[in-house]
Amino acid sequence: MTKKYNVAVVGANGAVGEEILTILHEVGFPINKLVPLASSRSIGKSVEYGNKEIAIKELTDTVFEEENIEIALFSAGGSVSAQFAPFAVKAGAVVIDNTSHFRMDENTPLVVPEVNPEDIAKWKKSGVIANPNCSTIQMVQALKPLDEAYDLIRVDVSTYQATSGAGKSAMEELVNQMQDFFSFKLGESEHKAFKHQIALNVIPQIDVFLDNGYTKEEMKMVNETAKIMHKKIPLSATCVRVPTLRGHAEALTLTFAKDVNADEAREILRKAPNIVILDNPSESIYPMPATCLEKNETFVGRIRNDIFSKNMLHLFIVADNLRVGAATNAVRIAQKWIELDKEK
Ligand SMILES: NC(=O)c1ccc[n+]([C@@H]2O[C@H](COP(=O)([O-])OP(=O)(O)OC[C@H]3O[C@@H](n4cnc5c(N)ncnc54)[C@H](OP(=O)(O)O)[C@@H]3O)[C@@H](O)[C@H]2O)c1
Repeated sequence: MTKKYNVAVVGANGAVGEEILTILHEVGFPINKLVPLASSRSIGKSVEYGNKEIAIKELTDTVFEEENIEIALFSAGGSVSAQFAPFAVKAGAVVIDNTSHFRMDENTPLVVPEVNPEDIAKWKKSGVIANPNCSTIQMVQALKPLDEAYDLIRVDVSTYQATSGAGKSAMEELVNQMQDFFSFKLGESEHKAFKHQIALNVIPQIDVFLDNGYTKEEMKMVNETAKIMHKKIPLSATCVRVPTLRGHAEALTLTFAKDVNADEAREILRKAPNIVILDNPSESIYPMPATCLEKNETFVGRIRNDIFSKNMLHLFIVADNLRVGAATNAVRIAQKWIELDKEK
């Protein structure tokens, strides 16, 4: 008989948490008991799981032990993971963490199942498996097969990141500002989630600036890519927030040790796991946030050679940040972890 697990979702009524619940249900995850957790603010509220309503419980030091949790999926912010993940680990659960807190910890594997599934086996050192940043996940899915074929020596990336990357309140901020625009009050709109008005604007800052002139989000792409791909690839990122609700886009310029052919690269990517090619410019077919909504694949298009250098390739990739960039990756990690657990 298939083993079923006691699963906790921490931050269950957040943007990522809700998506995790949807995907757990969609994939028929082997759940014995599902425990949605959030702060005391959410007591009295419930979440949907399939056609069931399940009451949210408060995240406490003891809840993982009391509920006999075996798999804990955290997405409630870095400080919450820092404080509570150790209690889940102590209670015997594997923690799959969506926040940045454990990502660069040397005892914690950072995993994209299509790229480095073998790293999941190292989970016991900390009890935690970290989920990378949303922008990193979709990018490395495309980088890995091309690196294997042509030996990647440099990546330059510009991102176009949706407001949902900053949580539910950030999406509401965009919607409210658009409503204010139609009432001729946009100048008076509040902005809390972002440093500037996001409606009808683009903001070249995601997270705080560091001393080297890059933002923390940009340096996450540099450091996380090296850790996941086990290769220190020179990478420069410019991360930009755009006024969309969901779906991160990235324009990539890749430099290889070998010469690259765009048609051949397209076929390599077509065969890569969970990548879908949308690349027919004459019919205006290419990936866009509007067409990747609620999808579990990463969409790649505009694949073309550089005009001047035979070893350079340009492409445009889009994925649903709440799915591919967070929930889907976390659930895929959990599924792989279960395969290891079965082999025990
Ligand atoms: N959005 C993305 O694309 C994305 C992608 C990858 C990773 N992440 C990461 O995932 C985390 C959550 O992001 P999100 O976008 O889902 O945010 P969100 O929509 O703001 O949701 C936050 C969730 O965390 C809960 N929470 C907050 N403080 C808590 C506390 N002290 N104790 C227990 N629960 C608490 C909230 O519950 P209450 O309502 O009860 O406070 C809510 O369920 C962040 O660390 C984020 O960086 C997000």
